[in-house]
Amino acid sequence: MKVLGIVGSPRKNGNTEIMMKEVLKTAHDAGCITEMFLMSEKQVAPCDACGTCFEAGSCVIKDDMQELYGMMESAQAIVFGSPVYFGSVSAQMKAVMDRMFALLRNRSLKDKVAGTLVVTRRVGAIQTRSLLNSFCIAQGMIVAGGAIGYGREPGDVLKGVGGGIDMSAMDEARQLGTSVVRLARRLGL
Ligand SMILES: Cc1cc2nc3c(=O)[nH]c(=O)nc-3n(C[C@H](O)[C@H](O)[C@H](O)COP(=O)(O)O)c2cc1C
Repeated sequence: MKVLGIVGSPRKNGNTEIMMKEVLKTAHDAGCITEMFLMSEKQVAPCDACGTCFEAGSCVIKDDMQELYGMMESAQAIVFGSPVYFGSVSAQMKAVMDRMFALLRNRSLKDKVAGTLVVTRRVGAIQTRSLLNSFCIAQGMIVAGGAIGYGREPGDVLKGVGGGIDMSAMDEARQLGTSVVRLARRLGL
């Protein structure tokens, strides 16, 4: 089983990346193949609403999203990770989400497992998680769980709290990795 993590932060070695690595390490330790797509290293243009994908089922913009389409199609579980930017996902993550319109025609992600990971300094975690959860449902995915991390400077999540009672951010990351793998296995993926 392959678990893919998409990190929507433009910041290399930032908090979202740190937590995603922990999610994927947990999945790897449970016997999964893992892959990570870092927006800090990639270029994904926004959707230009050309409408070609309605007919073709694929996107005509030739950038790093083409690589990500392939990674998503071959994964059984996908974890979407984003920092909170003004109460929402980062622009980088939103570009990925909008470009995933091209996957709807063939329902390519239907019944795959999703997880959501958000990191914020202080506010906006729940609304950003809700947005990501709704997006996953719109793609036909089954959401296994989510993790929240609080922190501002890179590395803050290593010692910061999570969104749950008495849980650290890194505990939540590990729990998310476990939940995603467990659900995917129960679904026989
Ligand atoms: C453009 C921008 C907008 C932000 N908006 C919020 C916000 O609305 N609420 C908040 O608590 N933190 C906000 N932050 C702080 C980030 O969520 C926080 O620094 C987070 O740890 C960044 O994750 P990263 O290290 O993965 O990039 C914002 C940061 C930036 C750069």
